[in-house]
Amino acid sequence: MDQVSLGSTGLTVGAAGLGCGGNSRLGIGYGKSEDEAAGLVEAAFDQGVTFFDTARVYGTEGAVGTAAQSIGRDRMVIATKGMIYWKEADIDEAAFLQNFETSLRELKTDYVDLFSLHGIRPAYYQRARDIYLPILLREKEKGRIRHIGITESGPADPGQEMLSTALAEDDCPWEAVMLAFHMLNQGARQKVFPKTIEKGVGTQLMFVVRNIFSQPNLLDETVGALMHEGNLDPARIDAKAPLGFLLADGHAASLTEAAYRYARHEPGADIVLFGTGNVAHLGANIAAINMPPLPADDVALLKTLFGHLSGVGLDLPHTYSKVP
Ligand SMILES: NC(=O)c1ccc[n+]([C@@H]2O[C@H](COP(=O)([O-])OP(=O)(O)OC[C@H]3O[C@@H](n4cnc5c(N)ncnc54)[C@H](OP(=O)(O)O)[C@@H]3O)[C@@H](O)[C@H]2O)c1
Repeated sequence: MDQVSLGSTGLTVGAAGLGCGGNSRLGIGYGKSEDEAAGLVEAAFDQGVTFFDTARVYGTEGAVGTAAQSIGRDRMVIATKGMIYWKEADIDEAAFLQNFETSLRELKTDYVDLFSLHGIRPAYYQRARDIYLPILLREKEKGRIRHIGITESGPADPGQEMLSTALAEDDCPWEAVMLAFHMLNQGARQKVFPKTIEKGVGTQLMFVVRNIFSQPNLLDETVGALMHEGNLDPARIDAKAPLGFLLADGHAASLTEAAYRYARHEPGADIVLFGTGNVAHLGANIAAINMPPLPADDVALLKTLFGHLSGVGLDLPHTYSKVP
């Protein structure tokens, strides 16, 4: 497994980070048990994964905690997240702290390596910084949080406004951010990476495959709609196989492989998160994230054809497990 530094946190982790949310939620999202999910975490660790991203709302902290008891807590880097609002209603400071205690209990640990404010929409940023950041700083003082981060809401913030504001802060308080980036959603190249690189802020990439590159026909339908709306040039794109050029002559073995390789080698990308509940996908994705870049001509074509798009393929998960 290739090793990467997470910004200036001092953490060095495997480049492929196991995302324990998304639609799969380690398989719990489609009926697997918590023990099976813990088994998947252990299988990931056995294949070199050391970074695990979970959250209170995913309902997978318990599985990560169970796996940590077998693996050894100090051999894993565990990241979790807490929400500050739920369906337009604020989660007050007391409830937020109570959720943090529950996270530690579920994870069966007394510290998390990275704690992030979860899915912060632009309108909530001020509140995140003024009210919840001080709470996290106090927990950091106590040693219960090692590093502090913030994650964007892909579907609610396609223009990445929240991160633009957060990264413009003097003495940026956020040590790591999580952002949406993929082959048809490349806006972070202008909006996020220049600042994270300049300020030494760690990056975790999400939505790299999601549904658009894993569900049959969704890519073709999405590209068809974008052409119809005038956002893509039909003269330049094969409507029946919009990314067929990536699979030609063995450039990549599959669209998921291409998607993970594309994200991994973007300048500014630290950890590529991948979400799965499937052991075969686990192995394939770790392999893909450790492969060399796609051919330079393919990368250039992806930029030319799709570099102007934003907000594509950023769908909400089908369900969250826990309501905070
Ligand atoms: N705002 C936030 O904080 C936020 C928002 C979104 C995501 N995230 C984090 O980012 C992580 C990654 O996002 P994501 O869950 O959307 O993951 P992803 O890696 O972009 O996509 C995963 C989806 O693709 C499928 N898949 C994975 N590998 C495959 C393969 N080799 N072949 C075919 N299908 C494959 C998975 O289903 P299978 O189970 O069948 O493999 C799953 O449905 C999440 O788990 C979560 O930790 C955070």
